[in-house]
Amino acid sequence: TVLIIDFGSQVTQLIARRVREAGVYSEIVPFNQAEAAMARLNPKAIVLSGGPASVTTDGSPRAPQAVFESGLPILSICYGQQTTAVQLGGVVEGGHAAEFGRAEVDIKEASALFDGVWEVGKRYPVWMSHGDRVTRLPDGFTVKATSENAPFAVATDEKRRIYTTMFHPEVVHTPDGARLLSNFVHKIAGLKNDWTMAHFRTAEVAKIRAQVGKARVISGLSGGVDSAVASVLIHEAIGDQLTCIFVDHGLLRKDEAEEVVRLFRGHYNIPLVHVDARERFLAALAGKSDPEAKRKTIGALFIDVFDEEARKLGGDAAPAQFLAQGTLYPDVIESVSFTGGPSVTIKSHHNVGGLPERMNLKLVEPLRELFKDEVRALGRELGLPEHFVGRHPFPGPGLAIRIPGEITEEKLAILRQADAIYLDEIRKAGLYDQIWQAFAVLLPVRTVGVMGDARTYDFVCALRAVTSTDGMTADYYDFPHSFLGPTATRIINEVRGINRVVYDITSKPPGTIEWE
Ligand code: XMP
Repeated sequence: TVLIIDFGSQVTQLIARRVREAGVYSEIVPFNQAEAAMARLNPKAIVLSGGPASVTTDGSPRAPQAVFESGLPILSICYGQQTTAVQLGGVVEGGHAAEFGRAEVDIKEASALFDGVWEVGKRYPVWMSHGDRVTRLPDGFTVKATSENAPFAVATDEKRRIYTTMFHPEVVHTPDGARLLSNFVHKIAGLKNDWTMAHFRTAEVAKIRAQVGKARVISGLSGGVDSAVASVLIHEAIGDQLTCIFVDHGLLRKDEAEEVVRLFRGHYNIPLVHVDARERFLAALAGKSDPEAKRKTIGALFIDVFDEEARKLGGDAAPAQFLAQGTLYPDVIESVSFTGGPSVTIKSHHNVGGLPERMNLKLVEPLRELFKDEVRALGRELGLPEHFVGRHPFPGPGLAIRIPGEITEEKLAILRQADAIYLDEIRKAGLYDQIWQAFAVLLPVRTVGVMGDARTYDFVCALRAVTSTDGMTADYYDFPHSFLGPTATRIINEVRGINRVVYDITSKPPGTIEWE
């Protein structure tokens, strides 16, 4: 085990992710529980994370002194570097030019951390985020790399195996960071590359059992990967103590509802309540054209329907004590911006917020530490079919936010057909897995066309496809015209109600991925 001691950085989870990628088990604990965790986990290496505090402030967090007395290899990042310096007798000062974002480091001397990655005398890009800096190193430390504003960009005590960096090796903006972390866990700490998703599955099943005990759990399926993976994992842990509720709001894509039902009832034999609420949702959405009004309507009605169904399950007794959610790590951090300040609501993503409070349920969130691609790997591990696991993300409000303006049954039907053709062409071209999300949007705009000898006056369909790693930023996918042309023709020929197709080439920012 690698113990990651968290000082509150926005990116601590990324350290855990990189260590997992290196095939080594890790656990994150808050700094004030670190001492107990050391006794419990008997770690073989320790990482100190970054954090928002300044070590020059009274009462700022420190690592337990036992960390430094343990003789274990230590990697201290950013705030971790500063507290390491102070705790071992060095000096840290505030008030220097802060360095945020991209910087370059010059490698001065060899270090075990750089082995096979960075060479002495060369310069490499890294990602910095800090205000304070170390001004005097503790005894035994030497400077291994510098940057313009950080004379101690990397300082280490190779004998005691304490490595400190002022930059963040865990973020993708430090291109070689994953290899530095791999050096730390493999070459320095001597840990084996033997931890896999299969281990995660076993460990998480045990955690779920311990959390839930004999209580009942309900889970809302959305048709997407996250809720499906969470539900299958929880079912593996507690069997029929879990009931899944699938609210079909009629805003799903073609054949999606049937597929979910088949997968859960047929493939896994997991208890599933399938609620056909299509008419209720359409009725509630009637007359609503503002994107946020649509989201709120869908979110609120979803909670009503879910609550009603869950109560039916329980008879007079409480239906369940726990609600399962497929919350991923990016959902956990998305509410707080990267720089630590509160972020502005661009879109209210949290579709079912309020449900646990209203139903008085505690949460089971077995995917809370994972990123999307890790959830996919876990889904494969659990035997979910590849085409299901590999699916693009799909928003909770579904097609309702892909039809700007008012939603009607007719528009939904048109969009479903166009979207299915588009995705079919993408799959046939072998491009599906290169794209983060691809979908059709039905614009509430009619244009004139000519088909055969007749005039048409039909809707415009916009096609969207983006690449992204987390949905936070995105670039449009650069299809060849030889793909776009025939796909547009097929949509216009096969879908009644569409006579024009356009391709959206907006990146995010300034656009968003969805149109609403
Ligand atoms: P945007 O459109 O904000 O989307 O660039 C980023 C990611 O979030 C998804 N999205 C939503 N997901 N409820 C959801 O569950 C929503 O209301 C919602 N709006 C956008 C979007 O599909 C993309 O993956």
